[in-house]
Amino acid sequence: MSSENPTDNTASAVKTLIQRPRRLRRTPGLRSMVRENQLTVDDLIYPMFVMEGENQKVEISSMPGCYRYTLDLLLEEIKQISELGINAVALFPLIPEAKKDDVGTESYNADGLVQRTVKAIKQAVPDIVVITDVALDPFSIHGHDGIVDDNGVILNDPTVEVLVKMAVSQAEAGADMVAPSDMMDGRIGAIRQALDAAGYFNVSILAYSAKYASSYYGPFRDALDSAPKFGDKKTYQMDAANAREALKEVELDIAEGADIVMVKPALAYMDIIYQIKSTTNLPVAAYNVSGEYAMIKAAAQQGWIDEKKVILETLTSMKRAGADLILTYFAKEVALMLL
Ligand code: PBG
Repeated sequence: MSSENPTDNTASAVKTLIQRPRRLRRTPGLRSMVRENQLTVDDLIYPMFVMEGENQKVEISSMPGCYRYTLDLLLEEIKQISELGINAVALFPLIPEAKKDDVGTESYNADGLVQRTVKAIKQAVPDIVVITDVALDPFSIHGHDGIVDDNGVILNDPTVEVLVKMAVSQAEAGADMVAPSDMMDGRIGAIRQALDAAGYFNVSILAYSAKYASSYYGPFRDALDSAPKFGDKKTYQMDAANAREALKEVELDIAEGADIVMVKPALAYMDIIYQIKSTTNLPVAAYNVSGEYAMIKAAAQQGWIDEKKVILETLTSMKRAGADLILTYFAKEVALMLL
């Protein structure tokens, strides 16, 4: 009896079983043949943080292994990850306090940090897909994604006007894809119209369609110093208890012109990814957010889990749920693992 066959039974104990699922799990070759989902480097989008200055990178304490880079070092890093096969980066800026105001004016400055960064990336690594975030939080003194009135209400339509300017200025700088992460109503349609009117009909929209008011964003807000100064984001981001509402948001974003729809966060929202995948033929993205990253890093640092295996299992499960694309701070580590 072969020891390579863990399903061998002693002759006396063998029963007739028509189905023995273990037959196809017996060897690595068989398991590969019937594997239903495969994580590849093509699935990955790398979110990266950029800051003003030169020759500096600062590790984000709640996201070990993740850095804010000055533009020069960011370009070096992007060259490296591009060589590893990563196709796309999503940019997030740390805006100096002095440039923040209550309406996010800096967000559409043609010479702003994001715009300069996009131009420089496109020059240095033209093939990398550059995705820019469209929301006011890194640019506003109060840390909300929109314009706030005297009563603390986040105003929808005036915010959309600013988002439109921001998206067009990012397209002007050379962004391949703009990604509204703000959850204002009607912003996808307004941005699509404005991009087309400005001649950027080939710039695509990655819509944060089902973005939840989640506590998993904490480390990201540390990274950008963008935590809301008052209140929370529950009047615009979705209630964690809702699923049908996510389908409604997706439907609206598609009708308004989204090219890719996204669910954020990912891990606690796998049912949402699954349901959205079964209702649309557009590519579906999932955002493996900062808190999900931090939890794995923290447990790994304690020696409580096998980091590499848990990363691969987690991201593969997102694919299984239906994600075609995954925004993840693990992108570089995964690319190295998959080499
Ligand atoms: C803000 C934005 C957030 C993230 C991406 N864009 C934070 C928020 O909504 O407060 C979070 C990403 C992460 O946690 O990794 N528009």
